Amino acid sequence: MQEKTPPVVIDTSGADIHAENARIRERGPVAEVELPNGVRAWSITGYEAGKQALSDQRMSKDGRQHWTAFTDGEVDPTFPLIDWALMDNMNTTYGSAHSRMRALVAKRFTPRRVEAMRPTIDKIVSSLLADLAASPAGTVVDLKARYAYPLAAHVIFDVLGIAGAARDTILGDGEAQVDTTKTGEEIAASVEQGLMEMAALVEAKRGNRADDLMSDLITAQEADGSGLRDAEIVGTLSFLLGTGTETVTNLVINSIHALLTHPDQRRLISSGQASCQDAIEETFRVEAPVAHLPFRFPTEDVQLGEVTIRAGDPVLMNFAAIGRDPAVHGESADSFDITRSRKDHLSFGHGGYSCIGKALGRLEAEIAVPALFARFPDLALAVPASEIAPQSGFIMNGRSELPVLLSAPLAESA
Ligand code: HEM
Repeated sequence: MQEKTPPVVIDTSGADIHAENARIRERGPVAEVELPNGVRAWSITGYEAGKQALSDQRMSKDGRQHWTAFTDGEVDPTFPLIDWALMDNMNTTYGSAHSRMRALVAKRFTPRRVEAMRPTIDKIVSSLLADLAASPAGTVVDLKARYAYPLAAHVIFDVLGIAGAARDTILGDGEAQVDTTKTGEEIAASVEQGLMEMAALVEAKRGNRADDLMSDLITAQEADGSGLRDAEIVGTLSFLLGTGTETVTNLVINSIHALLTHPDQRRLISSGQASCQDAIEETFRVEAPVAHLPFRFPTEDVQLGEVTIRAGDPVLMNFAAIGRDPAVHGESADSFDITRSRKDHLSFGHGGYSCIGKALGRLEAEIAVPALFARFPDLALAVPASEIAPQSGFIMNGRSELPVLLSAPLAESA
């Protein structure tokens, strides 16, 4: 039986995504929601339904082919989320186009290659910590701007092969692209600017290859008779740049924030009863870095539990709600408990489009979070937790900033 209560109208500011998710969940694990411009979509909040949807090959990410309202010419061009369905990158392709690009990109993220990045990540973290330690005593430091974001950006620049002055400009106002309070025009302008800069870098790289992902894609394009399109190379590199930066930033600051606001849990780590990995994994579950991801479009009618999703209807994966599903985690699903034995979540996705950067993202956090607490054992929030605003928009789950007091840093060990 389809749900009858009116759909939850999604708050584009993302002011309290967990309270909103609880309201969506009341309507069932697969429930209708209303997006800007009155667009109706499905939100999947249940773990089992989520796993099923993510494994179902009939769930396309290519809105250009499979979004009925779009192919029928009925989507208002001012719909702010239109780009999420129409972007040209590996994550919005379907079938063989997706498999081909995914195989090429995945080669850069094998366990061996990720492990080889460990010394570089160690070095970046040490250098950022040294910069923080140089702040005058008592200064309020924003760990998002001065620690998590520069770490994530530096690592993904290295992987993609972006060097020099482009590092200062190409991310632009990176968060604009995931900020659902922006208008469609503002988001499109930000996407366009990023794509133009990336296209220029790809052109420059053609004559100056190196051991990086941008060179891999250019070389594959030349070697492959059918050819990758320039737009999909540029779009995929831009997607990787955004996803490599935004997700890791959120994971690192959400983990630090959770430990700072749960001193009992932090003590479990210092006393050796739990590990920092436990805390990071629990953060993935309870504060998924990607909250409510647009869009999937069934290529035919798909039955998910009691709900039939019609072919071509937009579907959002509500990763933030899935990690807190009481059907899996019981009454304590909303609590941050690093000792819980089941920390099941789908915060890296699942199935054919699951996260390629999973091991890299984990490694960055597993180096950055314990190193910060080791260097600044008296680390504390500089303002009450209730004053820290969430990241603007409902797609990502982060914070606008993470102001802390470092207190007296320990001298760096030799
Ligand atoms: C650590 C935090 C991260 C989280 C929480 C995360 C989350 C996700 C999620 C939820 C998806 C699935 C998207 C979907 O279903 O369409 C995904 C896909 C993807 N992620 Fe991550 N990600 C993280 C880090 C990274 C990093 C560091 C990279 C690499 C630079 C990366 C690259 C990708 C790519 C390329 C895809 C698309 C795969 C495809 O289309 O086949 N991610 N990620």
